[in-house]
Amino acid sequence: MEKKILKSFRLFRFAGINISHYSAMVLLLGAAVLTASCTETDSVNSGNVTTDEIMDFVDDQVRLLVSETDAAIERNPEGRRGPRVNSRGIRADSLFLISSRDWTSGFMPGMLWYMYEYTGDDHWLGEARRYTAPIEREKTNATTHDMGFKIYCSFGNGYRLTAEPHYRDVIIEASNTLITRYNPTVGAIRSWDHNRDRWDFPVIIDNMMNLEMLFRATEMTGDSVYYDIAVQHARTTIAEHFREDNSSYHVIGFNPETGEVMQRHTHQGYAHESAWARGQAWGLYGFVMSYRFTGLPEFLEQAEKIAEFILDHPRLPEDLVPYWDFDAPDIPDVARDASAASITASALYELSTMVNDKSAYYKQMADDMLASLYNNFRSPDGGNLGFVLGHSTGHHPHGYEIDTPLIYSDYYFIEAALRKERLESR
Ligand code: GLY
Repeated sequence: MEKKILKSFRLFRFAGINISHYSAMVLLLGAAVLTASCTETDSVNSGNVTTDEIMDFVDDQVRLLVSETDAAIERNPEGRRGPRVNSRGIRADSLFLISSRDWTSGFMPGMLWYMYEYTGDDHWLGEARRYTAPIEREKTNATTHDMGFKIYCSFGNGYRLTAEPHYRDVIIEASNTLITRYNPTVGAIRSWDHNRDRWDFPVIIDNMMNLEMLFRATEMTGDSVYYDIAVQHARTTIAEHFREDNSSYHVIGFNPETGEVMQRHTHQGYAHESAWARGQAWGLYGFVMSYRFTGLPEFLEQAEKIAEFILDHPRLPEDLVPYWDFDAPDIPDVARDASAASITASALYELSTMVNDKSAYYKQMADDMLASLYNNFRSPDGGNLGFVLGHSTGHHPHGYEIDTPLIYSDYYFIEAALRKERLESR
């Protein structure tokens, strides 16, 4: 009963989608369409797993992950790159602990915020606050584009759920740090500082994900500087990252003085001309989210093109969880990337609220993907040291994190489950 009341209360602040301005109109329209189309397609459109079922399992796993992480950090608190703050995955049968500098440091706090959001339980509020605090030092780290992943998943969710002024200040400071990496000649935010011998000014498709924090910073401050940079970055990405078939390159190397494209490369995919699975998912999510904030049709159009590339791909397995690269040699005998499916499912739920004609289709694909992840790719009960899913692939070309739990896979899986419930409780 208490859970049900909390669910109604949560309705308009759910799973990263805040209803405001333009978005309210789009989401309400989407809800009407979804309601109509669900009636027609209920038998195939419901997925065979509920958010409650998923979250019961997640609750047990995440409690274990927190206790394992606390114990491992206590045994080994200092890392090469600073104090250890949380877990990224499993290596050599042990938790792989990270410092706040790691690009994945925001996901575990973010998951704990989702646990709080779903349950309304103060236990999770306390854990979310505890795991969020050590990420703050990243707000002035200007050496990376990963600020959104780190600060927005942690402090952003925290602010969304608590409206705590300090969290807002951290997000604004982090946004000010991130925009120092923007180059107006290129029209994009620089992604990496490593591998300078290969790229002068690399911009990776993943970088679309960091724009959410900038859009929010404009909403929080009324200063359009963050919004303008985010829009230009997304436009440059459309212009330079995509191929004829709507798949994307991973890395575009620009000349920072002229804005000219120097390289079209991969770093984590199979080949420069291949379609790295998680890259396609980052692009989809990034353009769906950019449309949420801007209402610009070009972003929705790009999102739908990416969705079509993924969902219609002849090498997308029947269970809808992609191989680590759509062009990997030796398919089907290669590793999957469950994280690509988690990110895609979450994005498809939101995309289903933005269109009329394909709303029911996107929702059904998201349901099927989520159900497949839960039924076929989840950890054994109490297994994988508390990670929710197994079978993700982090960096195949470098030979690590292959067919293994990864924290961002869990984060987007939980987000997707919460978005499913939000759509269905309208
Ligand atoms: N953003 C890095 C990755 O997707 O592996």
